[in-house]
Amino acid sequence: MSQPHQADTTFRPDLLAGKHALITGGGSGINLGIAQSFAAHGCKVTVLGRNLEKAQKAAQGIVDAGGQALGVSADVRDFAALEAAVAQAAAQFGNFDIILAGAAGNFPAPVDGISPNGFKTVVDIDLLGTFNTIKAAAVHLNKPGNILSISAYGNPVPMQAHVVAAKAGVDALTQTLAVEWGVRGVRVNAIIPGPIDGTEGMARLAPDEKSRSRVAQAVPLNRLGVPQDIANAALFLVSDAASYVTGVILPVDGGQNMLGGAPQYQTYLAMQQAEQKA
Ligand code: COA
Repeated sequence: MSQPHQADTTFRPDLLAGKHALITGGGSGINLGIAQSFAAHGCKVTVLGRNLEKAQKAAQGIVDAGGQALGVSADVRDFAALEAAVAQAAAQFGNFDIILAGAAGNFPAPVDGISPNGFKTVVDIDLLGTFNTIKAAAVHLNKPGNILSISAYGNPVPMQAHVVAAKAGVDALTQTLAVEWGVRGVRVNAIIPGPIDGTEGMARLAPDEKSRSRVAQAVPLNRLGVPQDIANAALFLVSDAASYVTGVILPVDGGQNMLGGAPQYQTYLAMQQAEQKA
């Protein structure tokens, strides 16, 4: 067997040995980075995605790197499909110790460019999908256990009304669950990723080198993040080192959150001015 993917982290390699994590939206981007990193630390990983082929490819990559992984498919908007997928995962690898509700849908559009169905689609994927994932998978969750969701800034972000509205709901759900399920030994936390290089979101936000460097300069730590930055935070939150941490919405963003929505607003203004000139 080849050696497991060697993550560049400070955590011990067997941190999650014997555990099983469900990761929705794990076929690419930040969630794939977390899946790979969890597997590199001994965790069995179920990658769940809308597209079965993509989920299986991600799982195969983890297996090829020496980890244990399974790819399953469900749309997080479809509760019955989720129930079937999590049952399949639990039958293969046993109950979950970690549920990561990472699946998200997004497109940049101003409020007057979003139809009611467009708004509903994103709320259904991001907010209802998080609820559905947690509700379907919690039936198979070992206690003590961990739930992680992926959130976004509470700041207003131009072109993202549908997303920030949905993610504000994810925050409320995360913290309410943390309060309700603490007595069951379940910790519930969320991560707010900053601009992470190599993701779909980043490619959309900054498609060329000039805009990438503009985004990086608007981050106090003066660089874009990498998926491992988010994975490291996830490893900490699900580890015993965070055993007294619950209900936290943790920005992992090089300090961008401290600046509020000003950088995104400046980008939006520049776009508006360019449009007016054209
Ligand atoms: N601007 C405005 N509205 C948009 C849009 C855009 N760029 N993209 C989709 N919509 C609207 C559609 O017009 C439709 O509304 P309508 O029926 O009133 O026309 C609604 O959203 C649903 O679109 P559809 O393509 O049928 O939904 P879907 O379930 O197949 O796709 C999305 C989901 C909308 C999130 C899609 O953007 C997507 O699949 N994105 C890729 C994955 C992704 O977002 N990853 C997240 C990275 S952070």
